[in-house]
Amino acid sequence: MPASRPRVAVSRTGLPGDAVARLAARHDVTTWERSTPPTPAELGELARGHEGLLVLGSDRIDATLLDAAGPRLRVVALASMGYDGVDTQAAAERGVTVTHTPDVLAETTADVAMALILMARRRLGACVDALRRGEWGAFRMDAFLGLDVQGATLGLIGYGQIAQAVARRAAGFGMRVQHHHPRRKADDTLSRWVGFDELLTTSDIVSLHTPLTPETRGMIGAAELARMKRTATLVNTGRGGVVDEDALLSALRRGELHSAGLDVMAGEPRSDPADPLFAEPRLVVLPHVGSATEATRAAMVDLAARNIDAVLDGGAALTPLPGTPGRPGIDPLLGR
Ligand code: DGY
Repeated sequence: MPASRPRVAVSRTGLPGDAVARLAARHDVTTWERSTPPTPAELGELARGHEGLLVLGSDRIDATLLDAAGPRLRVVALASMGYDGVDTQAAAERGVTVTHTPDVLAETTADVAMALILMARRRLGACVDALRRGEWGAFRMDAFLGLDVQGATLGLIGYGQIAQAVARRAAGFGMRVQHHHPRRKADDTLSRWVGFDELLTTSDIVSLHTPLTPETRGMIGAAELARMKRTATLVNTGRGGVVDEDALLSALRRGELHSAGLDVMAGEPRSDPADPLFAEPRLVVLPHVGSATEATRAAMVDLAARNIDAVLDGGAALTPLPGTPGRPGIDPLLGR
């Protein structure tokens, strides 16, 4: 009797690239076929009895899910760099390897951070909105004025792969770059390390590149916004929970901050057209598209699938989560 093939569950249909088809050539693949994401209970049902599970960053991987999947589960591969939805301890206790996708999305996400910096600083989103409302009128020297990025100081909070890719881009735009992360690393070429408070008070643009952890949740609130220059711009391409959105809205409305650009928000997805974040003219909001190019999203799924293959073939995962067996080292988001 032929040996039965490992079973792999995939939490979304229609993932970019051919990696899922490649998985299906080697394993028995069960795919979530509906267009809406599975609820946690549905994901547990989907994963039940499988050895491998390929999920997105927005899927919660906790003790309930792992127990619902059952003892055969050996690897959960996130097609995502961020892993704030993973209970790493629950996975370790059950001997499940969890992997993510560093390396493949930093450049693409850094492009969106730069786009948000330019859009917010130059008020380009407000310009597009004004055109749509038929408000252009005559050319005026004092209309649609923004602030220059050349000569501005960019402060990066977190200094991993994405932040460093932003630093490289910012140099080309004539910006001075400084960064803060908890563990100081010498880097005089691209950016200089500064303390957290110095970064807040001296940067013209503050760009957030930290993972969401208990330590970083709410890291930018009313007190931190008040430390920033009134002419400053805040950009977040990391995770929504790092910024206190009410405090941000109130700082923008009171003119205590020039502008902000968010690719991530708390409680995503946010689909209420009356969401106050969408209405604020000095705030540019994007629907979490940092890594959203065809090639990058396909590369993320591809790396997730290769992680599943590696573990189910009995080898080491290619990119296990930082701090887990086989990867004690660098956190690619935080750079430590
Ligand atoms: C990531 O990879 O963390 C992006 O935010 C997409 O989930």
